[in-house]
Amino acid sequence: MPVPDLVIAANWKMNILPSEAGDFAERILNGLQVVHGVTKIVCPASLALPTVAERLKGSEVYLGAQNVHHESKGAYTGEVSPSMVREMCEYVILGHSERRQQFGETDEMVAKKITAAIRVGLKPILCIGETLSEREAGDATVVVQRQVRTALREVPSLNDVVVAYEPVWAIGTGVPSSPADAQQMMEFIRGLMQEDFGRSALDLPLLYGGSVDANNVAGFIAQPDINGALVGSAGLDAERFIDLVKNAYAASG
Ligand code: PGA
Repeated sequence: MPVPDLVIAANWKMNILPSEAGDFAERILNGLQVVHGVTKIVCPASLALPTVAERLKGSEVYLGAQNVHHESKGAYTGEVSPSMVREMCEYVILGHSERRQQFGETDEMVAKKITAAIRVGLKPILCIGETLSEREAGDATVVVQRQVRTALREVPSLNDVVVAYEPVWAIGTGVPSSPADAQQMMEFIRGLMQEDFGRSALDLPLLYGGSVDANNVAGFIAQPDINGALVGSAGLDAERFIDLVKNAYAASG
């Protein structure tokens, strides 16, 4: 059975100033120079992308944005187009729960963004995950199924797609899912993708996100359907992030 890549992505969210981001990225780059075999991605705020792109050029650390608009250009004040992002980035996080909850992004909007991103050659990191009330109501799998299937509806193949399962109740709370619960959901997601896309779903990198840190990452990576992590707060300290990536790699054995 093909084994998907190990992928560790850091979402800096609305943290780290453009004036700080270059040095910060370089510390991560230097600390991870010896760690091959992991696809490492950092996702700074839009304004910091040019500086970080410059510092990471030609390196093994990839750059991702945190969002894009679905239109290619036009009168969309305050927005950034996929082709603008593509000039600097390989990846883009789409459908993060903070975008869904705070900025009203629907599954339909996420689907349009995914299609637009792929059209310009960006690799989407699609975020899906249930809220606490959805989980308590027993709807977690229904929600996740709807999110992933709607978002990837127009996608011809899973090539270059990354899916991150991030239960909303685990994000920024310091209370991660248990590795076993996460595995159960990831197995379900991979099964859905296999129904829709066939055997290529076996190569789909599935990331877990939600309070991942250097201490707990190994437990997730040891699960058969978890191929990496999407990290928030533990990515805001260069040393902690470097340790996290090293521990993930060691656990991938
Ligand atoms: P966290 O954030 O690691 O701070 O929980 C994860 C995320 O939002 O992707």
